Formats: sequence, structure tokens, C-alpha cells
Amino acid sequence: MDELGFNKIAAAVLATALGYMGIKELAHAVIHVEAPAKPAYALEIPEAAGPVEEIELPFPQPTWIAEMDAERGAKVFKKCTSCHNAEEGGNNGTGPNLWNVVGAPAGQHAGFGYSSAMKSSGVVWNFEELDSYLERPSKYISGTAMNFVGLKKEKDRAAVIEYLRVASSNPVARPEPAAASEMDTEEVTVPQDDTLIVDAPPNPLDDAPMEDVQPETAETSEE
Ligand code: HEC
Repeated sequence: MDELGFNKIAAAVLATALGYMGIKELAHAVIHVEAPAKPAYALEIPEAAGPVEEIELPFPQPTWIAEMDAERGAKVFKKCTSCHNAEEGGNNGTGPNLWNVVGAPAGQHAGFGYSSAMKSSGVVWNFEELDSYLERPSKYISGTAMNFVGLKKEKDRAAVIEYLRVASSNPVARPEPAAASEMDTEEVTVPQDDTLIVDAPPNPLDDAPMEDVQPETAETSEE
């Protein structure tokens, strides 16, 4: 065989080998489809928008003040009378006498043996403090000896606090509603520079049909 002939054969063998490998690779690429780790169309139903942010409104709200009703408060106070009275010069019972309590420092009523939690609380019984304490005494002053579950309803607390407010030789004034203007500036941020809005490029997704948008949300939805 001459050299050319040999080269031809060698080239043919090489070409065949390469061709075979190429086909194998190609077949591999075409046929061996790996299942994606997550399906492209796993459409997740959005969960209830994550943890709900609680906006604490400043105390007291006008609704709270409107619910201050001493007459109704006297009825609510029936839940307290097994331990307290609010009469001038009244006895201490399981709980201290509550005459003059609104506006007074906690744990100061003469002759009553308070818990150390109450004595060392540093609390002054203003409207907000009373409202929080009466909602869940053990939560507000952990270790308090007041064995009472609390008044769940805001209107019950507002009413009984009004009852206690007037049970005094020198009642403190009714509270003013927390200023609404204060809230407005806190909650709303108005962009100062309105060119920000005017110059914003149009969002290409704005008029995209829903089908085009979904796969993208599926891809990014796992975080
Ligand atoms: C089971 C008895 C009991 C009931 C019911 C109860 N309390 Fe008390 N209360 C106490 C005791 C005991 C204390 C003292 C707590 C301490 O020393 O930690 C106290 C303390 C207080 C104080 C703080 C007094 C101070 O001088 O600092 C207020 C205000 C108060 N109670 C209001 C109420 C109101 C209003 C109700 C009803 C809605 C109520 N309590 C129901 C037992 C009770």
C-alpha cells in the first residue's frame, strides 16, 4: 500500500471514530435530558404575604377615649371586686384599695403587701400603662401577684379605667387623642423629587400576558 492509500484509510478510520463520538455526544445531548431540580411551572400559590406587619397606633386613639364610660366601668369593675374596692378609705383585700390609683406610682398604696415585681416595676399608672396592665397583667408586669387573666376588650378597659379615674379626690384630666398629624408624617413617605416618577422607564411587564410572566415567578419563588 502506498503512503497515500494508508493516509486515506487512516483518515477514514479517524473520521469514522470522530463521527461516532460526535453522534454519541449529540445523542447524549439530545436524549439524555436531566430532569430539572424543580419544575419550571411549579406555580406556587403565594402564602399569606408573610408576617403581617403590625402598625402600632399611638395611644390613646379617639375610639378608646369615646369608650371611657364610668357607668359601664362600674359594671366591668364587678370582675375586680373579689379583690379590690375603689372607695375612699376602703380596705385592702386580696388586692390593694384602688382609690386615687390613676396617675399614682405602682405599688404605693399604704398597708398593702405588694409583690416585689410590682414594687420594683417603676410604672406610673397613667392611662396607657393601666390599659396594658389590665389587658394582660402577667405579661405587662411579669411576676405580678394580681392573679387575673385580663380584660380582652378595649372598651372594657377604657370603661373601667374611667371608673378608676373618677374614684379620686383629685381626678386627672381625661386624655387627649394622640395627634393624627404625628401619625401621618410617620406612616407616609412622599417622594420629595417628583422627577423620579416622571422619568421612570416603562415597565415591560406592564402589558405582558400572564403566561409570559408566570415561569419567571416560578423560578424566583423558592427563596
Ligand atoms: C384575684 C384577685 C384580683 C383581681 C380579680 C383583680 N386584681 Fe388587681 N390586683 C390584685 C393584686 C394582688 C394586686 C397587687 C399586685 C402585685 O403586688 O403584684 C393588684 C394590683 C392592681 C393594680 C395596681 C395597684 C397599685 O397600687 O399599684 C391595679 C390598677 C389593679 N390591680 C386593677 C384591677 C382591676 C381594674 C381589676 C378588674 C378588671 C383587677 N385589678 C382584678 C388582685 C386582683
